Amino acid sequence: MSELDAIRERHSVRSYTPERIQAEKIVKLNEKIRELNEAGNLHLQLIEDAGNTYNRFFNKVAGLGSAPSVIACAGPDDETVEQRIGYFGEKLVLYAQLLGLNTCWTGMFNKKNISADVREGEKLVICIAIGYGNDNGKPHKSKDMEQVIESKGDRPFWFNNGVELALLAPTAINQQKFLIRLNEDQTVDFIDKGGLFSQVDLGIVKCHFEIGAEGHVKVEF
Ligand SMILES: Cc1cc2nc3c(=O)[nH]c(=O)nc-3n(C[C@H](O)[C@H](O)[C@H](O)COP(=O)(O)O)c2cc1C
Repeated sequence: MSELDAIRERHSVRSYTPERIQAEKIVKLNEKIRELNEAGNLHLQLIEDAGNTYNRFFNKVAGLGSAPSVIACAGPDDETVEQRIGYFGEKLVLYAQLLGLNTCWTGMFNKKNISADVREGEKLVICIAIGYGNDNGKPHKSKDMEQVIESKGDRPFWFNNGVELALLAPTAINQQKFLIRLNEDQTVDFIDKGGLFSQVDLGIVKCHFEIGAEGHVKVEF
């Protein structure tokens, strides 16, 4: 399975079995996290016991209280940290999918209860529930391609492929409030149309687009 397969199979999962993630998968996840933290200058961390991270009313209603583990997404409190968390956090989500795990990005959780290590100068932006789902979730409703692009003239295949995968990206409350612009010189701009956690969304969208564009676009922060 490739990252592309993982994108097609991934959906948010909010109901988990009590099974803990096996030791060898924990080792693999931690190795991946080390790699991503280095590449993205971040402080993502796997917390094996989610404890009471999801004990707030709306989390319980959604079912997230059943998540056995959680990934705290922190990083230096700088201008691009939210986008980097979206981009590198989604790489981790796709890797988890390849390991047979399910996930859900969660902007809403109990910040007081999560046992994250947030150092001076860092910010805890969001977290990701992780474990074995009772199901694999289901595809989200999506905007059409034409609603999220801006381009003149013919569009190359790689641009359309990138947009197709960007539309499969998880976004807060499924808002999909982004625009992808193809410039005349074939460069691509990603535009944030605002909304809850929209910078994290944009990082996730960049991650998906880059995979779809197969080498034609290199995301940099
Ligand atoms: C930045 C971000 C924040 C999110 N916050 C929550 C949340 O607090 N609670 C929740 O149940 N789902 C949350 N989600 C999951 C979205 O609702 C979900 O990604 C969206 O509905 C699309 O569905 P899909 O992930 O199955 O494709 C969040 C997703 C993102 C990207």
